[in-house]
Amino acid sequence: MSKAELKIDDKVIELPVITGTENEPAIDISKLRAETGYVTLDYGLKNTAVTKSSITYLDGEKGILQYRGYPIEQLAEKSSFLEVAYLIIYGELPNKTELEDFTSGVTNHTLVHENMKKFYEGYPQHAHPMGVLSSMICALSAFYPDILEPEMDKKSLDLNVQRLLAKSATIAAWAYKNSIGHPVMYPQNRFDYSANFLYMMFAKPTEEYEVNDKMVSALNKLLILHADHEQNCSTSTVRVVGSSQANLYTSISAGVAALWGPLHGGANQAVVEMLQKIYDDGGATKENIDKWIKLFKDKNSGQRLMGFGHRVYKNFDPRARILKKAADEVLNELKVKDPLLDIAKKLEHHALNDDYFIEKKLYPNVDYYSGLLYRAMGIPTEMFTVMFALGRMPGWIANWIEMSQEKQPITRPRQIYTGETKREYVPLNKRG
Ligand code: ACO
Repeated sequence: MSKAELKIDDKVIELPVITGTENEPAIDISKLRAETGYVTLDYGLKNTAVTKSSITYLDGEKGILQYRGYPIEQLAEKSSFLEVAYLIIYGELPNKTELEDFTSGVTNHTLVHENMKKFYEGYPQHAHPMGVLSSMICALSAFYPDILEPEMDKKSLDLNVQRLLAKSATIAAWAYKNSIGHPVMYPQNRFDYSANFLYMMFAKPTEEYEVNDKMVSALNKLLILHADHEQNCSTSTVRVVGSSQANLYTSISAGVAALWGPLHGGANQAVVEMLQKIYDDGGATKENIDKWIKLFKDKNSGQRLMGFGHRVYKNFDPRARILKKAADEVLNELKVKDPLLDIAKKLEHHALNDDYFIEKKLYPNVDYYSGLLYRAMGIPTEMFTVMFALGRMPGWIANWIEMSQEKQPITRPRQIYTGETKREYVPLNKRG
């Protein structure tokens, strides 16, 4: 094992260097404070590995993303969402029986408790569905208290994993139905996961609804591409909350909340809103595109090219490449003409040839095209981040399980205090 040396004042200390299975090196500083009294300062944890993990590997420079060793391109092409969920959660692709058991387990838990249906009556009609999803997932822990057992056996854990995967889709679709004042549609267990979700979103009790296979296949791909992404903001949140031994539902409801922010999962909604603004401002004309590119480069404008840039990918986001192709195909197949796609392509072309974006290594990320795909499928903008959350569910679950099974210590970072030093209390009548 190689070692790193750190010189502080006149003292030199040795720090172990560890390497992952894909040869990524790290300096282990876990004994640094005990040995030197120093801590490290790392805003945004840009240089800090918070855990070892065997779930997902990504190389931001090379644009590689693998779940349990399988390249995302192969999974998006060949697999189904529930098969990928099984892979991510249990570590191996399932055999036929395992996949059938897992699929029927998830399918048989799609109903949510009738009392939970009443919760929807309490939300204002225009409640953002991410708020509803987060709070309802947290509420699941009240309905399935076996989740509160600190030492859950495998059977009980598997059951709650299936409940979570199944019920979150129903909760999400019902949040949409509630927002438009329509009756909720109960899940139909004859459908697979993606088809069932589309059914609960778009079917009405008043008419026949035929699930569109092309939309099912596009949704399946979208969910797979979002299924995990190692230690991103929401996944780290799930681990941080779970490290206090908070239960699976509660930890994942916190992950949903973290995903909601526009710098994370909220970006897909922000992309479409930005494209709409550009459309309203003059559309895809050269002058208008030039004007907006200039705004994105100007820090004082308060505008960023949403869907561009990534904390980790400093080359192309491999998911964006797959989605760009899928967006073209789906819009063609569904015969949707979307002027926003036109604007998106022009902006992308300009940005990829502009020194500002090249120098800062800003490329399209997964959100740049996912919103356009959701739009083509008729999914309303406010539901985009919810779709991301449904896709990310296997990754959150797998990280929560890995964290709890390894019995990692509670996450409790340090800080560098920069406030007032000790001073005496001043009574109210003596303050100026
Ligand atoms: N448009 C214009 N300039 C940008 C953009 C952008 N989209 N992204 C980064 N920059 C600039 C910053 O102004 C900064 O410039 P500076 O060095 O002159 O100060 C530089 O590039 C680095 O940006 P940071 O925000 O420091 O990079 P960081 O790695 O912290 O952030 C992030 C990455 C948050 C994704 C950022 O690129 C961004 O805000 N993008 C737009 C929002 C977005 O698409 N988010 C989705 C991320 S993917 C996901 O969560 C699934």
